[in-house]
Amino acid sequence: MPLFSGTTNHENRIYFRAKIIGKNKRIFMKDEFEKEKKENIQKLGGNDCLTGLSMEWITRVSRYRYSYNFTWLGRPIIQFPQDIIAVQEIVWQVKPDLIIETGIAHGGSLVLYASLLELIGGNGHVLGIDIDIREHNRVAIEQHPMYKRIKMIQGSSVDEEVANKAYDFAKGKRRVMAALDSNHTHEHVFKELELYSPLVTKDSYLIVFDTIIEDMPGDFFPDRPWGKGNNPKTAVKQFLEKNDRFIVDKDIENKLLITVAPSGYLKCIKENR
Ligand SMILES: C[S@@+](CC[C@H](N)C(=O)[O-])C[C@H]1O[C@@H](n2cnc3c(N)ncnc32)[C@H](O)[C@@H]1O
Repeated sequence: MPLFSGTTNHENRIYFRAKIIGKNKRIFMKDEFEKEKKENIQKLGGNDCLTGLSMEWITRVSRYRYSYNFTWLGRPIIQFPQDIIAVQEIVWQVKPDLIIETGIAHGGSLVLYASLLELIGGNGHVLGIDIDIREHNRVAIEQHPMYKRIKMIQGSSVDEEVANKAYDFAKGKRRVMAALDSNHTHEHVFKELELYSPLVTKDSYLIVFDTIIEDMPGDFFPDRPWGKGNNPKTAVKQFLEKNDRFIVDKDIENKLLITVAPSGYLKCIKENR
């Protein structure tokens, strides 16, 4: 008996075979696309001319406080647009139920993470920690439609009491991601890495922003406590010497080329025992 009325069994067999070939072709095309993309990314990362030009570009635009020029759903976000795209890819891939961010400022990144979690669905939340949450920023964040997914703690991210609150908040969460973007000195970021990295779950990410400081000209931050030799990248380097749960995901920075977080996209590859 033919499956579709008006067709013979022979026609049905042809129809199903064509469907299988079509499906295999689609899988093949997707595999080919991913392979080609991976090769492109590797080539980009290995192209000294392009990486040099990108660094030159970042240095030049940073003199105009470029990263301060953007907003996310109305809140100022102090990031480069390329890193925002990388965060979007990571959040979609990991689907965290908790994202911890140190360094809130105007709340743009908190709103970014919250909005992505909202789009994904589920019950994901963002926990922001800042030593100084300015009243006007707090009010604006609390009035934002994404506030329903945001919690904030005022205090230093390296204060153990503050970290304990983050640990309490993380209880029962299955996929935890973190982003460090507060004080950019080596000592501070290293301490943050020690405090918050155990919360990050396998296959998720710990993003350390502003590692680029190490690659900027030595005189770029005359009025800041951080600079060459004392910054998030040097902290990541020391952290990775003893920690085998994380690796630098080079594909991300090779893909972006323009990023403030070179060697700062850390992928968690092991469970925390
Ligand atoms: C670069 S801004 C954060 C930008 C924000 N992540 C964004 O994407 O828009 C740095 C923030 O870190 C905060 N900060 C400085 N020292 C800190 C500390 N010890 N603990 C927590 N936050 C701190 C500052 O108050 C400031 O709001």
